[in-house]
Amino acid sequence: MEIKKQADLIRPAWEERITELLGKMTLDEKIGQLHQVGPSPVGGFAVSLEEHRQMLADGRITQEEFDAFCSGTARDTQEQDVREGHIGSFLGVSGAEACDHLQHIAVEESRLGIPLLFGLDVIHGQHTIFPIPLAESCAWDEALWEKSAAIAAAEAAADGIAWTFAPMVDIARDARWGRIAEGAGEDSYLGARCAAARVRGFQGEDPSAPDRVLSCAKHFIAYGAACGGRDYNNADLSEQTLREVYLPPFSAALAAGAATVMPSFNDVNGVPSSVNTFLLRQILREELGFSGFTVSDANAIAECVIHGAAADRRDAAKQALAAGMDMDMYSGCYRDELKALIEAGQITTAQLDEAVRRVLRIKFAKGLFDHPYTRHRLTAAELAAHRAAARDAACASAVLLKNDGVLPLLLKTPVLLVGKLADCAGEMLGTWNIYGRAEETVSIKAALEEEGVLAGYLPCCGPDMPLDRDELTQAIRSETNTVIAVVGELADHSGEASSLCDIDLPGEQNEMLTALRQAGKTVITVLCNGRPMAIPNAVERSNALLELWHAGSEAGHAAADLLFGRAMPAGRLTATFPYRSGECPLYYDHPNTGRPLSPGRFSSKYLDAPLEPLFPFGSGLTYTTFAYDDLQCTADRQGIHAAVTVKNTGERAAKETVQLYIRDLVASRVRPVLQLAGFRQILLAPGQTERVCLTVEPERLAFYDTRMRRVIEPGDFLIQAGQSSADGLQQTVTVSADLAADYLRQI
Ligand code: GLC
Repeated sequence: MEIKKQADLIRPAWEERITELLGKMTLDEKIGQLHQVGPSPVGGFAVSLEEHRQMLADGRITQEEFDAFCSGTARDTQEQDVREGHIGSFLGVSGAEACDHLQHIAVEESRLGIPLLFGLDVIHGQHTIFPIPLAESCAWDEALWEKSAAIAAAEAAADGIAWTFAPMVDIARDARWGRIAEGAGEDSYLGARCAAARVRGFQGEDPSAPDRVLSCAKHFIAYGAACGGRDYNNADLSEQTLREVYLPPFSAALAAGAATVMPSFNDVNGVPSSVNTFLLRQILREELGFSGFTVSDANAIAECVIHGAAADRRDAAKQALAAGMDMDMYSGCYRDELKALIEAGQITTAQLDEAVRRVLRIKFAKGLFDHPYTRHRLTAAELAAHRAAARDAACASAVLLKNDGVLPLLLKTPVLLVGKLADCAGEMLGTWNIYGRAEETVSIKAALEEEGVLAGYLPCCGPDMPLDRDELTQAIRSETNTVIAVVGELADHSGEASSLCDIDLPGEQNEMLTALRQAGKTVITVLCNGRPMAIPNAVERSNALLELWHAGSEAGHAAADLLFGRAMPAGRLTATFPYRSGECPLYYDHPNTGRPLSPGRFSSKYLDAPLEPLFPFGSGLTYTTFAYDDLQCTADRQGIHAAVTVKNTGERAAKETVQLYIRDLVASRVRPVLQLAGFRQILLAPGQTERVCLTVEPERLAFYDTRMRRVIEPGDFLIQAGQSSADGLQQTVTVSADLAADYLRQI
């Protein structure tokens, strides 16, 4: 994908000022720009913070014990280091007052007045929390993705934050990996569009605007390919797969102007990303033209020693800088080792200046030299609008997975509510929530109380609550036949360091559903979770199943809107739900193999799982039905065009996401059985039809051959247009050799 916007990050006027600054900076001041710290706990304690970190790393203390130690002490923001120009950036400091206080020291009291850059993980909202990114990706709505990022940026900017460590654009094909929650699912075409939309939302046209923040495309690269879905594990993959699957979202983010990139913790084919010259220089800089700066993941440079890729911290610092890692996120390796490396001639001043220049370039791009202090203030009206947007996003992100007709409920239908999660507002905020507050979050129970339909509430069971058989008995004996059962995962069972072997409902939630259904109840299940789940029992026991996800501040209101039909479910899955955990990694765009999935004995399948996934990529129901007809396909210089007629054959107006897929039927390297190549959302009234035209752009036909050449090969392409990866009309189109050559020239 051609990079269009990166040039915006290089302005001659800035480069001249940077050259001038570099000429004045001491070695310590240059190294200071590459050093990012977090506020560290201080106070009289027997064991140092570093020792506590080591105790946590090797399991001598639990995370809870470590957190208690940190929270029990004051915070040291190393003000003297700021004054002496030894710190260039902070993570984890937030609030206009705190940021401006430190910024004042840097700008007014340091020798050169170089402003600080305040970074924070604003992943899906700052105070108004939106659905987790995986949920929002199921909206298939680029305007929505951009809007929620823009709202997060405005709230973060008002807190003095200039830079978010987002969007996370890692493609994830393995639901056991907890960080699947943070991205846009398994497909690189949709993931690329989502990445670009989020960068636009965070940065706007001009990232120096008071209500915008710099973005950070992460984690570069193939973090989601962790072996076994186990976080931080190695990623061993072909370069073809790296470029065809994992790179497109980063290309798109950079084309949208992403200011920074965060390399991933993992090694890629044996070389940790933090010291991977092939990734950081050849791909990121030379091929993609990236002109912003790279920031390591937390402590990742130091961890290259633990990887076994560096002999010691000094070796790690040398390799990282040489590979193209610009800023060190609080490992301290750059602060402690770069000066000696320069003085020993093991790294050059030119290498150091290159990294410092890129950091200063982005500080200029953010406008910090002209406006170092917090400028954006939020009004009550804006915050109210943000809440409304979060409610809309939660509705759009939800996916109706099953409905035997029980939904939508008639208004004022009395319901019995069960499930501990129904009353756990804080769990609705999901992973990577820092400043969202449970008391400002609408739980499902609170929303149903507002709705005036709650005939009763019995927790009965939860992800971390054993089945209360007395409460279950009360529920079964209740006169209210319609039960809304809220089940799922705790917020911290997805996200970082949260891989699972078993992705069925945790605890005894399945038993609760089974008992209710066997007692003859009408069971409407609402799922609150951070990953695709292998939940065949829950599906079987439910009359209806609504995937709400960890839906953020307005989760409860969105649930009520959807259950009572004020909002129409329109979400479509962006990650496959497996039938059983053991099928992971499971994704729709897989090769066919020579013995594809079939009931036949000798075919590629699991004997103890059905042939098809529980819910396929792109699937989702609504409160009406749609029919597709008359698919017509043609190919010309612009690409492969598909036209299809869609009709709303039901009783209610609804949004449909028309999905276009391709399959290259014969190629020099086998191609996936399907690949998403376009989508369009349309709104149809009952009985209304629309002729939808979509185009497969030439870019989407390209792949890397066995000699790593990017090619588009002539031949027959299967085109599918329909409701999901598993449901659509198909037609074959031939691309001639001339046309293929023309396509290749265009991309
Ligand atoms: C974490 C995450 C990264 C995050 C960083 C700062 O370990 O891997 O996504 O931005 O540290 O919190």
